[in-house]
Amino acid sequence: MNARFVLALLLALAPLASKADDKKDNPIGKEMKGMNADFKQLKKQIGDPAQKDSSLKLIADMKKHAKTARGLTPDNAAKIPEADRTKWMDAYKKKMDDLLGEYDKLESAVSDGKTDEAKTLLGDVLNVKRQGHEEFNKEEK
Ligand code: HEM
Repeated sequence: MNARFVLALLLALAPLASKADDKKDNPIGKEMKGMNADFKQLKKQIGDPAQKDSSLKLIADMKKHAKTARGLTPDNAAKIPEADRTKWMDAYKKKMDDLLGEYDKLESAVSDGKTDEAKTLLGDVLNVKRQGHEEFNKEEK
């Protein structure tokens, strides 16, 4: 295989690679990945009162991601019959509001130094996540 042939092969395959990326990097996916990274870090440090400020920053970032995701349309919306789609999108937004409500509670608990309560609330966040994925993102649970 000479270099020219390898180059031609790479150029021919490039569109396939970018198609795969499009699927993965849909706008909600980006917000979700951001929330996921914050959540993992928060779980590690939530019991440490010395990291309170940093924990509050992580929660603020999670809220930002959830608010952005609330305004976007999941890929799965395309599979819902048109007549039901508005109702489906309202339910999606409502579930995201539930998540934001949990983040508010989490923020108050961390702010008040109630670390045990904050740990319990992390479990509640995961429940809302599970419900959200069950209903709106069947591929990711
Ligand atoms: C802490 C809470 C949550 C976390 C950490 C989380 C995390 C994730 C992750 C890692 C993905 C895969 C992203 C990818 O690979 O591109 C994803 C996708 C998705 N999540 Fe969540 N999620 C959470 C809550 C929710 C909630 C409450 C809902 C619905 C109201 C939701 C709806 C979705 C949807 C629809 C997708 C697929 C993206 C699309 O269709 O465009 N998630 N989530």
